[in-house]
Amino acid sequence: MSVPEHVAIIMDGNGRWASQRGMPRAAGHRSGARAARDIVETAREIGLKTLTLFAFSSENWQRPRAEVRLLLDLFRRTIRREIGSLHDNGVRLSFIGERSHFSDALQREMAQAEERTRDNAALNLVIAIDYGGRWDIVQATCRIARACAAGEIAPDDIDESCFGEHMSLSALGAPDLFIRTGGERRVSNFLLWDLAYSELYFSDELWPDFDKASLSEAVDWFAHRQRRFGRLPQAAAPGG
Ligand code: IPE
Ligand code: IPE
Ligand code: MG
Repeated sequence: MSVPEHVAIIMDGNGRWASQRGMPRAAGHRSGARAARDIVETAREIGLKTLTLFAFSSENWQRPRAEVRLLLDLFRRTIRREIGSLHDNGVRLSFIGERSHFSDALQREMAQAEERTRDNAALNLVIAIDYGGRWDIVQATCRIARACAAGEIAPDDIDESCFGEHMSLSALGAPDLFIRTGGERRVSNFLLWDLAYSELYFSDELWPDFDKASLSEAVDWFAHRQRRFGRLPQAAAPGG
């Protein structure tokens, strides 16, 4: 059975989970953060190399200010609380997204968490925060344009591999398996470049309910996919 190396998840449905229980959306987001912690633990157990979690999109700034504040506070508190045990468990933490919109203090904490865990190798945990797939393509284009202007890259040398190196995930590689919880069948401006050949898995479970068994089910589903990348299926071995 093939285990995906890189799983990327849109953790959707916190608000609906709370409304179904007559609770404020904040309670759904808190339960969502706990679910994320458990999924990181399961990812290590399964032996994933990389787990990318979508925590806050470029478009989520358009939610009411109180919800935006709550989500960013929860993010900060969760990182503070979990960083010690993530580090002890060999997790390398990194963030992708336009972090310049955050306060200097939060940006500093994010950089410190990345620095502290940079030599860990058990699991790459990537948190996409203030992230958008279109933003990522534009920031890669800007960096390449600057390198061209500085004479470091010739325009004719720009190819998919050069472009990919300037995308946020670059060295971590593309997700093998994409999961979205919460019932919607859309990508919502997540990893537009990187999802080109990912297997797409949609779960109707709301994110706070997505547990160890749910992730194992998705990973089992992945193991039965035949990935062709545009080629023909591999012929069975002679005699086999
Ligand atoms: C996902 O849950 C969390 C974020 C987008 C930050 P939602 O808040 O989108 O929950 P629903 O989709 O409204 O249920
Ligand atoms: C996607 O969920 C973003 C995150 C989970 C962080 P949304 O709830 O923002 O997506 P839409 O609005 O349903 O497309
Ligand atoms: Mg949603």
